Order: sequence, then structure tokens, then C-alpha cells
Amino acid sequence: MLSITKKFEHLKIPLEAIISSTNNFAESNCIGRGGFGKVYKGELHVHLKGQTTVALKRLDRTFGQGDPEFWKEIVMLSLYKHDNIVSLLGFCDDSGEKILIYEYASNKSLDLYLKSDDLTWVRRLKICIGAARGLAYLHNPAGTQQRVLHRDIKSSNILLDENWNARIADLGLSKFGPANQQYTFLVSNTVGTFGYCDPIYVETGLLTKESDVYSFGVVLFEVLCGRLCISYHNKAQSFTEIVRKSYKQNKRDREQRPLMNEIVTALEMALIYQAPPTSPTPTPTPNPHPLSKLITTVLPPPPESKRMFSPPPPSLLKPPPYVPKKNNQKKWRI
Ligand SMILES: Nc1ncnc2c1ncn2[C@@H]1O[C@H](COP(=O)(O)OP(=O)(O)O)[C@@H](O)[C@H]1O
Ligand SMILES: [Mg+2]
Repeated sequence: MLSITKKFEHLKIPLEAIISSTNNFAESNCIGRGGFGKVYKGELHVHLKGQTTVALKRLDRTFGQGDPEFWKEIVMLSLYKHDNIVSLLGFCDDSGEKILIYEYASNKSLDLYLKSDDLTWVRRLKICIGAARGLAYLHNPAGTQQRVLHRDIKSSNILLDENWNARIADLGLSKFGPANQQYTFLVSNTVGTFGYCDPIYVETGLLTKESDVYSFGVVLFEVLCGRLCISYHNKAQSFTEIVRKSYKQNKRDREQRPLMNEIVTALEMALIYQAPPTSPTPTPTPNPHPLSKLITTVLPPPPESKRMFSPPPPSLLKPPPYVPKKNNQKKWRI
């Protein structure tokens, strides 16, 4: 353990600096809360950037997370760097406090904008493309025999910077998974967030990259419909109800889910097809996709002012075709 902490010594930030930057963890500096604890905004001098605005997550053990998630986040975010993965700027491990310090995403997270008019259809697609690229990077083993399985993909873990670029956050629950091998699953206790978690993973404890693909699909559905997958006020409006029924009717092989790289390509194509709006009035879709009919039947549409300005291209509603790879002994489906 000692050698590990030494390795990350350059990222250490003393508690006094954090106390003064958050005004002693003042409520007015609190910008969110989640499974790790409260999140604060502050100004700090950090190793990589000098004086900058940061987001600080202070571990609160009453929510169930602890040292493993703290160290996992530090190790993973130090190893995996990408434009669409949040950057860790430092951490504090003083006087019993465990605090993670990240770059500040000034637009916070995608869940906060699902209903918002600020999120035009083009912007929605660009955010999805960015997040998909980040996850594809984690899944892509690049010739090695391991990949990263995120295990907590959800709209609140897709952070948005001042230019609405997406950054995947929270690798504290992630796991290294096998890649380029005959069997590429892990057996693990189920973690994640209700509504986003792959039902097959919940049922069996068998984890594969397709479980992240499932969760990412839930996020795409949220972006498409302009609402969170879970409605605590009206249970009938939760996606989980639709999912439960559909899952019961047509249990599909998990291997049929697309790869993240294929999703990136499909979303990029959808963006190309998305013509800029010529008039402010939305034009009706001539042949609505059966899925959009299901959405409007089961879920009442959001108020007029909250709707997207143009209908989604059908290409987004169809998953990219799955082309089974030839059974080649040397080349596993990664
Ligand atoms: N780096 C960051 N920059 C800006 N806002 C953030 C950052 N990290 C987290 N947040 C905000 O704080 C909220 C809580 O974060 P978190 O503890 O990860 O919980 P959860 O992911 O369960 O929502 C997020 O939903 C987001 O709005
Ligand atoms: Mg989070």
C-alpha cells in the first residue's frame, strides 16, 4: 500500500488547502451529492494546471462506499486518459478524510438537462457521441488482454464541460475484464444504479462489456425521450416497466448487443443525417418508427416547451446491424 501511495504522491493535496477552497465545506459550495458523498466546487492550486476551478468529492462512508472505491478511482483515472473521460487532478488522504479532486465540468451532468431546451437535438447527439467514444476507449483492449468495464454508466455520470463536451465520470466501481480470450466474462457481485443495470447481470452476476452497452442504451433512451429512466413520482412512467415487459417477451442473447465502436459509428452517422433546422416549427415524422409510437403510448410526451425541435433520425432508433464474426480460433470477438 505504501508504494502505491508513493506512486501518486504528486497528486496529494493537503487538507488545509481544501478546507480553505471550499470555505470549510460550506453548503453554498455544495454542487451535488451521490453514492460517494457530497460534491463541492472550489478554487485550488493543483499539480497539473496551477490555480483552477475544481470539483471535490468528499467520502461519506454512511453511503456504503469507502477506501476501495477511493483508490480505484485514483488508479483508473491515472491509467486511463481520454478527451471524453474526466480528469483527476488530485486527492486528499489526511486526518481520516478521503477527498477526490477533479476538473470542474461547468455544465455539471447530462441528467440535469434531459428535459432542457438548451439541449438541441444536434447537441444531444454530440454529447452521446462523446460519451460513446469515452466508453469505447475503456472497452477497447488495444491488443492487451484486459479492458475496463465501467459498471455505473448513467446520465449523471456523463459530465458536461463549458462547451458541452461529454466526459465519463466515476470509475470507482469499474473492474478490469478479460479481453481477447476465449471467455470474456467476470463473475462479480452486482453493483450499479437501479434502472441502468443490465437485467442479465442482475440475474446471474455474470458481467461482460455488454452490460455497459445496456446501460448506455438506457442513457440513449433518456436522451431521446427527454426524461430520466426512473420516475419516483409516477412509477408507470419509469422505463423499467417497459423494459421489464419487453425483456420478458423477447429475452435476447447478450452477445447480440452492438460493440461500443459500432455505436459510435451509428451515432456519427445519425449526426450527419441530422440536417440543421430550416424553420422553427417542428415537422411531423411521415412514418413514425414503431418505437416512437411505443414511447408516446406508454410515456406521455413532455410539455411543448420541453420538446426537441426536430424528430430523431430513424438511424438512431435502429441498432446497427450485428454481423457475427467468423469462428476464428485466434480472433475472439472483442
Ligand atoms: N467534476 C464535476 N464537475 C461538475 N459537477 C460534478 C462533477 N462531479 C460530479 N458533479 C455533480 O455532482 C453530482 C453528484 O455526483 P456523484 O457523487 O458522482 O453522484 P452521481 O453520479 O450518483 O450523481 C453529479 O450528478 C454532477 O451533477
Ligand atoms: Mg457520478
